[in-house]
Amino acid sequence: MSAAQEIQKHFPFGRLNRLLDGHAPGDSGIEVAELPKGAPVLLSVGEPQDPPPPMIAEAMAGAAATWSRYPPAKGTPEYLEACAAWATRRYGLPSGMIDPKTMITAIPGSREGLFFATLASMPDRAGNGAAPAMLMPNPCYHVYPGAALAAGAEPILVPATQESGELPDFAGLSQADLARTALASYCTPSNPQGAAASLEQLQDLIRLARQHDFTLALDECYAEIYTGAPPAGGLQAAAALGGSLDNLLVFHSLSKRSSAPGLRCGFAAGDPKLIAALEVMLRTGGAGVSFPVLAAGTALWNDEAHVVLRRERYAKNFEIAERVLGNRFGFRKPDGGFFLWLDVGDGEAAALKLWREAGLRVLPGGYMARPGADGVNPCDAYIRVALVYGPELTEAALNRLAEVL
Ligand SMILES: Cc1ncc(COP(=O)(O)O)c(C=O)c1O
Repeated sequence: MSAAQEIQKHFPFGRLNRLLDGHAPGDSGIEVAELPKGAPVLLSVGEPQDPPPPMIAEAMAGAAATWSRYPPAKGTPEYLEACAAWATRRYGLPSGMIDPKTMITAIPGSREGLFFATLASMPDRAGNGAAPAMLMPNPCYHVYPGAALAAGAEPILVPATQESGELPDFAGLSQADLARTALASYCTPSNPQGAAASLEQLQDLIRLARQHDFTLALDECYAEIYTGAPPAGGLQAAAALGGSLDNLLVFHSLSKRSSAPGLRCGFAAGDPKLIAALEVMLRTGGAGVSFPVLAAGTALWNDEAHVVLRRERYAKNFEIAERVLGNRFGFRKPDGGFFLWLDVGDGEAAALKLWREAGLRVLPGGYMARPGADGVNPCDAYIRVALVYGPELTEAALNRLAEVL
């Protein structure tokens, strides 16, 4: 099977379409302003459904003359500085630790950043003969294994289950696997479970990456959506270890933070050598981030008020989930992100039932994971529910979900 065929075979939303396409959606019975009466409710995709901040349109209109230009190679100085200033504020970094010129680059989103960083991190294939490996959690965002396959690396999926605290233990892998690891992707707060790594766990990961000389790619795209204390980040862990960014890349975007996934605007920060290699790949195969988008991004990274509002909206949704679900389906409030990760016994059967009986579209958890060495998919019992709507619709949808299951 070619890499493209294998990526296609596992694509979670293709699998969901194949599961549900032959079945008409049931009437949701929901009557709220956000949705035509009884229409299906899409809880399968992590796409914020609130309107994006008006400052996006304003900043882009102000920069309209720059549509005639190709996107700059690494972002504008204003954009890179806004990203560095945000990271410094968010993670309490020593001022001057992040050099915006060499340690940051603009990316359309964490998806593209991770994908191109994977291509950029693959060693010379003529090396010692062992296939390069890419580590990732199981379950995970589908782009991680997709990037590994596209780059010719072997994806090694490491259990991120309740037993492992919902985060993967890369340090527990064999020395042989760690020796051939070119890159490890790690998500915090994680999709789907919403588990956030502690500062100590991130420090240990950085130490592990340096010991075995692989790239640690931290996907922190949910860093701003949290329910309690702000989750720690890789740059913060690097600061605590003395300030070097060796072997580290972190990925951030405005998709979740600013409800703007269509903007395609984010940044990667980290080791200058890795940033330079990532830029080579981005310039070769990427669309770049255009001047008007960078103008909007600069305004968004410099503003916190719109982010506070979004965080409150998601926190309210989790309170609703707590009230409606209690401890059914193993529900507990996650550290971050906006997903429910529910143990419903049989994720595919539950997704089909929710769709046919109530028009609720959710993702079977098994579609985000691969079977382990024992042939068992550790997430077959789960569904992932994206709480991306307002409180009224969220409450109605969760009531229906609880009723049907
Ligand atoms: C874990 C994870 N990483 C990355 C992405 C991609 O986000 P972006 O829009 O920043 O590329 C998503 C989007 O859903 C995600 O869930």
